[in-house]
Amino acid sequence: MSHDMSFTAAAKHRRTIYSLNKKAPIDDKKIEEIARIAIKDVPSSFNSQSARMVVLVKGEHDKFWDIVTEILKVHVPEAKWEHTGQRLKGFKNAYGTILFYEDPEPIKKLQSQFPNYSDKFPEWSEHTSAMHQYFMWTALEAEGFGCNLQHYNPLPDQRAAAEWDIPLEWSLRAQLVFGGEEEGAREKLSTKSEERIEKRLFFHGASL
Ligand SMILES: Cc1cc2nc3c(=O)[nH]c(=O)nc-3n(C[C@H](O)[C@H](O)[C@H](O)COP(=O)(O)O)c2cc1C
Repeated sequence: MSHDMSFTAAAKHRRTIYSLNKKAPIDDKKIEEIARIAIKDVPSSFNSQSARMVVLVKGEHDKFWDIVTEILKVHVPEAKWEHTGQRLKGFKNAYGTILFYEDPEPIKKLQSQFPNYSDKFPEWSEHTSAMHQYFMWTALEAEGFGCNLQHYNPLPDQRAAAEWDIPLEWSLRAQLVFGGEEEGAREKLSTKSEERIEKRLFFHGASL
């Protein structure tokens, strides 16, 4: 994959990829550089800067999925464990995971600063997190990783907080799994439908 894609090419390239391995197409320094861009340049509501990202690679990534597996084993019925266990193994086979958190502190501050919008800030905090998730997903795939987005929160929250010294108040919103793509990982992807776009997209006043 080209490592120098236009934004729209990167957006088109981004898919949900599950067949991942531990081969990284870029080094950890470059991953950190991309994560720094997310924290600095991705917008947040009222510039809350409430997003927090914890990037785990290699052994630390494995540790996270061991924690999730251990906890889920207690919750998932024996008959369903085969499926769940395989899925979790697939995530662990990848190179890294980004934990996306929202810090409630700046949100609370904004709520008292702008009481008229008080009930809106929690929703906008979710939007802020989603923007960071989408940026990292698209940027890492543009660099040659495959990614998938997971939501095992809140099950691993406490153990993760203890393991990586993460404040318990932070709220885990999503986990982005990333890794090298296995041969043929994109082969079975559904094609994106052009159908019904006109029922979902409306454009007024353009010179088309
Ligand atoms: C808000 C959001 C939540 C998602 N949650 C999950 C999830 O928990 N597990 C998962 O495997 N995929 C999850 N996905 C991935 C979607 O299923 C996927 O993006 C969608 O089917 C379109 O496929 P594509 O990513 O290949 O374009 C999520 C995507 C979004 C945007």
